Amino acid sequence: MIETRAPGKLFIVGEYAVVEAGEPAVLVSVDRLLHVRLTERDAPVACGASEHVLAAIRAVDELRAHRGLPERHFEIETESELEDERGRKFGLGSSAAVTVAVVEALDRLHGLGLDPVERFRLALLATIEVSPRASGGDLASSTFGGWILYRSPDRAELRAHRAAHGIASALVCDAWRRCEVRRLPAPRDLELLVGWTGSPASTRQLVDGVSPQQPAAPLDQPAFLAASRDCVEALAGALERGGGGADALRAIREARGLLRRLGDARGIEIETEMLRDLCDIAERRGAAAKPSGAGGGDCGIALAPSGSDIQGILREWEHRGIRRLQLGVHAAPVFAEGGADER
Ligand code: MEV
Repeated sequence: MIETRAPGKLFIVGEYAVVEAGEPAVLVSVDRLLHVRLTERDAPVACGASEHVLAAIRAVDELRAHRGLPERHFEIETESELEDERGRKFGLGSSAAVTVAVVEALDRLHGLGLDPVERFRLALLATIEVSPRASGGDLASSTFGGWILYRSPDRAELRAHRAAHGIASALVCDAWRRCEVRRLPAPRDLELLVGWTGSPASTRQLVDGVSPQQPAAPLDQPAFLAASRDCVEALAGALERGGGGADALRAIREARGLLRRLGDARGIEIETEMLRDLCDIAERRGAAAKPSGAGGGDCGIALAPSGSDIQGILREWEHRGIRRLQLGVHAAPVFAEGGADER
């Protein structure tokens, strides 16, 4: 039996903008895991796998066939820590985590010897067959761990390249040129608080609702992208300078405002009432807060400096029905071994 696991993720800043090729976001991977168990079988096994798992299987199998390796049969079981006792997802990127863990399990089954960058690329090539607009930030977070700055590659170009030239060529093609995964230090003097609103959101529907092609949308897309880029760079710069502090808090607040304006312009509710309360409670008690990910439910995050009233925030969250997720950072094993920058 082969066992693999991959962590969930949280977007810190850069959501939606990162869907455009080359635009950055900051993410952190969390210590809640998705487990995959793969057992080899003598004959094909019918399985009720999700579309993400099936896409991962197809992508790895295409590479296996390209390398002339024999076909093998297997059964895949998954177990997730990324949902509550009743099976409701927290919005921590379970589809990405399962994709990353399945790619790694199949890599080991077939002895492909892929490195983490190749596994990430394969996971993204698989994912965009299911969700063509997905940025891949969650896959990078699940693959590389820790705090990262991520820039997405051109996925339309990747899909076209795979269709025309096959997966082995798509793994090394020029469409990756704008992709970057860069490790960031964790903030030193800020505590990351995560609140879950209890209502799941559909990332795909929300992202499709903010397509720049929609004529009714009065949003100035280049200005939105530039402002989001500024937030990401301000936060990354603050972390790299070894602190966090006022610049990081400003970046979080600015990013919240941007997501609000984006939602208003596109007529989608990114910041739900519950997320608004989550953020306002944290703000009133000295932290900076925003929705995390696509919004519309799921989680919000707060960065709390020393001196902010963390106990008060948690008490008020609980009173409002917001569940604190006690999450630590899933360490970055790849980078710890000497770096795997995707660029
Ligand atoms: C969703 O978790 C984050 C978005 O930026 C979509 C994506 O990055 O694929 C809204």
